[in-house]
Amino acid sequence: MWSGFKLTKFLAIALLLACSSSGFAAVTEPPAEQPTDAPVVQTTTKPTTTTVAPKTTTTVAPKTTTLAPNTTTVAPPTTPAPPPAPYPDPQIGKWNTSCIMVQMAAQLNLTYETKDNKTTTALYNIPPNATIDAGNCLNQTEQISLEWGPIDALHSLVIQFSKNESRKEFAVQSLVFNIPIEGDNFPNAKEGQHAQLIYAGKPVFSTPLHMSYHCTRKQKLNLTETLDMTSEPNGQVTLTNVQFEAFRPNNSTSFSTAKDCDAPDTPDVVPIAVGIALATLIVIVLIAYLIARRRSTARGYTSF
Ligand SMILES: *[C@@H]1O[C@H](CO)[C@@H](O)[C@H](O)[C@H]1NC(C)=O
Ligand SMILES: *[C@@H]1O[C@H](CO)[C@@H](O)[C@H](O)[C@H]1NC(C)=O
Ligand SMILES: *[C@@H]1O[C@H](CO)[C@@H](O)[C@H](O)[C@H]1NC(C)=O
Ligand SMILES: *[C@@H]1O[C@H](CO)[C@@H](O)[C@H](O)[C@H]1NC(C)=O
Ligand SMILES: *[C@@H]1O[C@H](CO)[C@@H](O)[C@H](O)[C@H]1NC(C)=O
Ligand SMILES: *[C@@H]1O[C@H](CO)[C@@H](O)[C@H](O)[C@H]1NC(C)=O
Ligand SMILES: *[C@@H]1O[C@H](CO)[C@@H](O)[C@H](O)[C@H]1NC(C)=O
Ligand SMILES: *[C@@H]1O[C@H](CO)[C@@H](O)[C@H](O)[C@H]1NC(C)=O
Ligand SMILES: *[C@@H]1O[C@H](CO)[C@@H](O)[C@H](O)[C@H]1NC(C)=O
Ligand SMILES: *[C@@H]1O[C@H](CO)[C@@H](O)[C@H](O)[C@H]1NC(C)=O
Repeated sequence: MWSGFKLTKFLAIALLLACSSSGFAAVTEPPAEQPTDAPVVQTTTKPTTTTVAPKTTTTVAPKTTTLAPNTTTVAPPTTPAPPPAPYPDPQIGKWNTSCIMVQMAAQLNLTYETKDNKTTTALYNIPPNATIDAGNCLNQTEQISLEWGPIDALHSLVIQFSKNESRKEFAVQSLVFNIPIEGDNFPNAKEGQHAQLIYAGKPVFSTPLHMSYHCTRKQKLNLTETLDMTSEPNGQVTLTNVQFEAFRPNNSTSFSTAKDCDAPDTPDVVPIAVGIALATLIVIVLIAYLIARRRSTARGYTSF
């Protein structure tokens, strides 16, 4: 793309030069016609070529324009290079139990072994039509289990939330993905593999109780094969368009007020600042008005 941009810029300049400065092109022409001549002869022939030049100025211009298409044929090789068909972006899914509501688009980048015993990576999207397998709503932890895929090779995701009573917050405690390595998503995969990808680090996305966590941008979490998170990551999950709420009032049907991941911790600062500025302005106007009124009444005018 960068080189393509450069080329078009170059072409534009080349065309401009060809159209505007035909005299310049005429001067560059002569050396090309007689490059092998002896230096002594060149000085004598030069005057004759410069007298010819004014006549050929119109014919020189097309020559430079034919150079331009030549460079455009060079451009295509750089553009076909990128298209290794991109894996689609994940779609947003929405799931709820009586106490949890989750909305997100999730994509895994996970490693697997190929038939020739090599490790490779693949992207995998959590389908938005995954169904809710189970959920529980306990005092301190709540979880929701999603599952999808064929019955003989079930895929699943379990999200666990925890509550911190003293801080009046909840957070995502863990994410556990179970993905059988099979199908078109995992070309050339060795048979019988099953990936377990876990996030169980420090709780993430913490949010005040009775609010929902909201984040549109991409967020990545490293995943490991075991719960203790000590082994090397065997994958990553990228979450976008996230909205989570756990420990919901049991009869609510939608997300509570959202706390956005990019909102400042003190979201009231801006309205307060605007309010103070407005109030100051009003006070100033009022004082000015009162002073003006006092002066005008002193002079004997009446005012309303
Ligand atoms: C134009 O193409 C010819 C042959 O295809 C090549 O020799 C020449 O270098 C090209 N010129 C430019 C400016 O790319
Ligand atoms: C999901 O929420 C709806 C209301 O928004 C509720 O009727 C439904 O029972 C909930 N689903 C589950 C599995 O609790
Ligand atoms: C997937 O993860 C591997 C290893 O972390 C990385 O090299 C690769 O670029 C990632 N793929 C994508 C599409 O992000
Ligand atoms: C892959 O490894 C297994 C044992 O780990 C071995 O039996 C098999 O021959 C290897 N395959 C290749 C292509 O190296
Ligand atoms: C989910 O969608 C996929 C294709 O998008 C489809 O093959 C699959 O049958 C669907 N699963 C369910 C449970 O609807
Ligand atoms: C749940 O919390 C309530 C009060 O917060 C407590 O009385 C009850 O014993 C707890 N139940 C469990 C199973 O922890
Ligand atoms: C709640 O948060 C406080 C302060 O961060 C922490 O000390 C405490 O261990 C947390 N409690 C639970 C149950 O996570
Ligand atoms: C994820 O893992 C990679 C490679 O091990 C590391 O460089 C990166 O810092 C990790 N990211 C987080 C958020 O832990
Ligand atoms: C909501 O939950 C409370 C206990 O947390 C229970 O007493 C009440 O019956 C529930 N209401 C509904 C409509 O399920
Ligand atoms: C939720 O249910 C409780 C009783 O279970 C009721 O008192 C309350 O008004 C309900 N709230 C809403 C918003 O419906």
